Amino acid sequence: MYPAHISIYEVGPRDGLQNEAPLHIADKINLIEGLAAAGIQRIEAGSFVSPKWVPQMADSAAVCQQITRAPKVRYSALTPNITGLKHAVAVGMDEIAVFTAASETFCQHNIHCSISQSLARFEAVFTEAQRLNLPVRAYVSCVLGCPYEGDIAAEQVAAVAHTLLEMGAYEVSLGDTIGVGTPAKVRRMLDTVSVCVPPAQLALHFHDTYGQALANVLACLDSGIATIDSAVAGLGGCPYARGSSGNLATEDLLYMLHGLGIHTGIDVKQLASVGQQVCQRLGIVNRSKVALALL
Ligand code: HMG
Ligand code: MG
Repeated sequence: MYPAHISIYEVGPRDGLQNEAPLHIADKINLIEGLAAAGIQRIEAGSFVSPKWVPQMADSAAVCQQITRAPKVRYSALTPNITGLKHAVAVGMDEIAVFTAASETFCQHNIHCSISQSLARFEAVFTEAQRLNLPVRAYVSCVLGCPYEGDIAAEQVAAVAHTLLEMGAYEVSLGDTIGVGTPAKVRRMLDTVSVCVPPAQLALHFHDTYGQALANVLACLDSGIATIDSAVAGLGGCPYARGSSGNLATEDLLYMLHGLGIHTGIDVKQLASVGQQVCQRLGIVNRSKVALALL
């Protein structure tokens, strides 16, 4: 049976924009405020990582300081270490997100350490977040394949996800970073992970490189999953995963969910115009089919 409600975790301003040409700060602010006005209640607004590695996110503090916060919206940001957490706290983020991988090689390329070193690094982040009562989300990348290692064992995904939950994450987002998953494979991986992490505490995060993201969501909707990550206009990719395309477009996800009678609280038409505006600013073609149809 499908759930009555799905929570959308919007990653466009972070996962999307981190892999697009730099966008002016005023346009980032308009984007985030537009997402909230369309009814999105969970927004990853930026990233407190090294600006040398991801220059597109270098202005995250200024962006988060300058947005007008909508009352029911939770604003989050990526924090790879305690430095990131401090920056996030300084600008009043409602929650933070740590990120590691199920692939050793990807982890090295992305955050320059092994998986176990990343988890050790997160200990201080979780401890400080707990002290501050700050909810921590966690990502596991490469859950269905790695650009360097190829196939990744679902048991490895389960082990990392379980550890993150034990450390204190309220939710673990499973990332198909390079978008190689297909429905049956995704479902098998999710069933394996669900043995040690309750599906209600898992989110799914699909990149749409091979056009499978929507089908992958559908294959998992009756599994107890309550949250799906997506990016308005299908923005983005990952700077450390060559060839990966943007995230599943939020508009396309909403159109399918609403068609199934699943409630999200988001106005898809209003969202489509927010996405179109940012595409115009970036000078790119809108990657949401639903947005193109609606507009
Ligand atoms: P490091 O290279 O291991 O070394 O960084 P470090 O810790 O010694 O720091 C190097 C420099 O970065 C130093 O500056 C630090 O001060 C600075 P320098 O002395 O050279 O001038 N630094 C920082 N600056 C700002 N904020 C910080 C911070 N920490 C250190 N928090 C580090 C490790 C993780 C910081 C670095 O490798 C990094 O920032 N990597 C970027 C990773 C990234 O953002 N990747 C993309 C996001 S993940 C993703 O997209 C996947 C996801 O969407 C899910 C999926 O699709 O699978 C989440
Ligand atoms: Mg991603």
